[in-house]
Amino acid sequence: GTTLGQSAAERGRYFGAAIAAGRMSDSTYLGIVNREFNSVTAENEMKWDATEPNQGQFSYSNGDRIVNHAISRGMKVRGHALLWHAQQPGWAQNMSGQSLRNAAINHVTRVATYYRGKIHSWDVVNEAFADDGRGSRRDSNLQRTGTDWIEAAFRAARAADPGAKLCYNDYNTDSVNAKSTGVYNMVRDFKARGVPIDCVGFQSHFGTTIPSDYRANLQRFADLGVDVQITELDIEQGSNQANAYRQVVEACLAVSRCTGITVWGIRDTDSWRTGANPLLFDGSGNKKAAYTATLNALNAG
Ligand code: G3I
Repeated sequence: GTTLGQSAAERGRYFGAAIAAGRMSDSTYLGIVNREFNSVTAENEMKWDATEPNQGQFSYSNGDRIVNHAISRGMKVRGHALLWHAQQPGWAQNMSGQSLRNAAINHVTRVATYYRGKIHSWDVVNEAFADDGRGSRRDSNLQRTGTDWIEAAFRAARAADPGAKLCYNDYNTDSVNAKSTGVYNMVRDFKARGVPIDCVGFQSHFGTTIPSDYRANLQRFADLGVDVQITELDIEQGSNQANAYRQVVEACLAVSRCTGITVWGIRDTDSWRTGANPLLFDGSGNKKAAYTATLNALNAG
């Protein structure tokens, strides 16, 4: 293939990008989106603070701009994210206990129902594990409603949109470590008890190198019977950047249940990582060496 999306499709996978509704009027930006990618994720527009700014009042206009554009062009949409400890609306941040649990599950049901039939994969729960080296759950207002909040969210999402793949998504879970093993144990338990989970997202926000056991870690999750997806890829610029992107593509292609890769932005100037220049296009929209390495890796073999 000659584009990331086309080349990934030839390998039975998608290649996506996080996009921002506010940048879609930039013709350079939108031109790259339309040319290169066959999946999109809303960078912020489908999060709780954006979609339910006041309790029970839902706001979908910016999410719809992204979803409708994607569907009109035959792109997949990754839904991001139904529940997360961050980017909650103020009213939810101030809630606790059963009233927060009810509000959270209602949020899952309402948003997943609104977008039913349009979402390839939902990040049902984002970043619920701690970085404490013990694989613990992260402390949050949601966790304090009871440790079963995650399975309750997945059950509500399945009921609302039975056609969407339901993912758990996190960062610093890209190698075999205490945090990823905590997630692994949760997924294994969910599969054993019939809690509906279909996929695990590995954000893959990397420094200048990728973990040596990246592929093995993806494979151990796939062996639990879930798909794996690379959901927020960006890699700090340096002499190894192109090589590291190539290694990420090779890892995904080596795992049959790795169904797609999403980069977290279009141009370096669109990235949340100021100064890292971690993406595939420079600030002018030109293809970087990392782009060529990524495309070549998708086309190899
Ligand atoms: O929209 C407001 C704008 O009205 C206001 O004037 C401005 C002033 O700060 O803020 C704007 O909101 C910002 C928003 O991005 C949209 O640009 C927020 O401050 C800013 O915090 C927010 O950052 C986002 C971040 O999530 C929030 O946690 C990043 O764009 C987004 O890339 C990032 O994405 C996360 C994933 O969702 C989860 N994994 C990690 C990843 C990187 O942090």
